[in-house]
Amino acid sequence: MELRERLGEWRALVEQALERYLPTEEDEPTALHRAMRYSVFAGGKRVRPALLLEACAVAGGNPMQGLPAACAVELIHTYSLIHDDLPCMDDADTRRGKPTCHKAFGEAVAVLAGDALLTLAFEILAELPASGVDPTIALRVTQTIAHAVGSLGMVGGQTLDILYAAEQNDALTLEQLYTMHSLKTGRLIQAALEAGGLIADAPLAKQRALREFGRHIGLAFQVADDLLDVEGTEQSLGKTTGDAAKGKLTFPAVLGVEASRALAQQTAAKAVEQLAVFGDEADALRQLAWFVVNRKM
Ligand code: IPE
Ligand code: IPE
Ligand code: MG
Ligand code: MG
Ligand code: MG
Repeated sequence: MELRERLGEWRALVEQALERYLPTEEDEPTALHRAMRYSVFAGGKRVRPALLLEACAVAGGNPMQGLPAACAVELIHTYSLIHDDLPCMDDADTRRGKPTCHKAFGEAVAVLAGDALLTLAFEILAELPASGVDPTIALRVTQTIAHAVGSLGMVGGQTLDILYAAEQNDALTLEQLYTMHSLKTGRLIQAALEAGGLIADAPLAKQRALREFGRHIGLAFQVADDLLDVEGTEQSLGKTTGDAAKGKLTFPAVLGVEASRALAQQTAAKAVEQLAVFGDEADALRQLAWFVVNRKM
């Protein structure tokens, strides 16, 4: 099956499940639920859920059992985008082809919509046993995701992103850049892969392979995003660009465009190498790795 088709199938499953999980626009407070649904159904690529479901399938599990976790990861990602776009963070006007959540609903409701999406994600994770996942495994999945997005993961990385923007780029080291990117974007992506392996209850060697694949592809994802920030347009990406121009620490700002492009490709290649323990069944994951670095949006 073509990658595009496979992504389309995962996306359809995730959209349907998200539709069930999110309160309706009629539920009070309607402004809050409208804002949550506005951002969740604005048309994201759903790459993180696809990675989780694909990892679960590759590791011999039943992806349907992973569906709640795939939705939880997408809700956490969407909350992170809403907050990332706020005036106090990246101050962006456009996201997923539409005005950002705070532009459409005001800052206070946007902050609260993010809070509610994060909380809903953990309510959904608590449903994993109901979809047939062993409760001990469900707890490990929940802990893995929580750890990945907290102060030692995504939120920590977002904090570094803000703190570093206040400093001179040339005073910052490449190592700080790697750390920031791995935390703010890499950890959630890595956790999606790990969750897939855990839910499949895969042998440890396969779980390790998925974790290491996730570590590399998570970093590659943000290097590619930084490149799109300088090479794409608001129109082509559906989101406000110009992070590098705003003094953000990005790979193209530090290494230049050519070296960043080479790094993205090398990192995707390293990710793919980690999948050696799998046979042809991991081809879709391999293709996803190349999609992550070659995408145009
Ligand atoms: C953008 O993520 C933000 C980053 C962490 C780099 P995506 O490129 O996955 O955005 P959507 O979900 O498709 O909108
Ligand atoms: C976002 O990084 C990382 C998050 C955790 C949200 P960016 O700030 O580069 O993401 P975009 O470019 O706004 O999507
Ligand atoms: Mg940002
Ligand atoms: Mg941003
Ligand atoms: Mg960006």
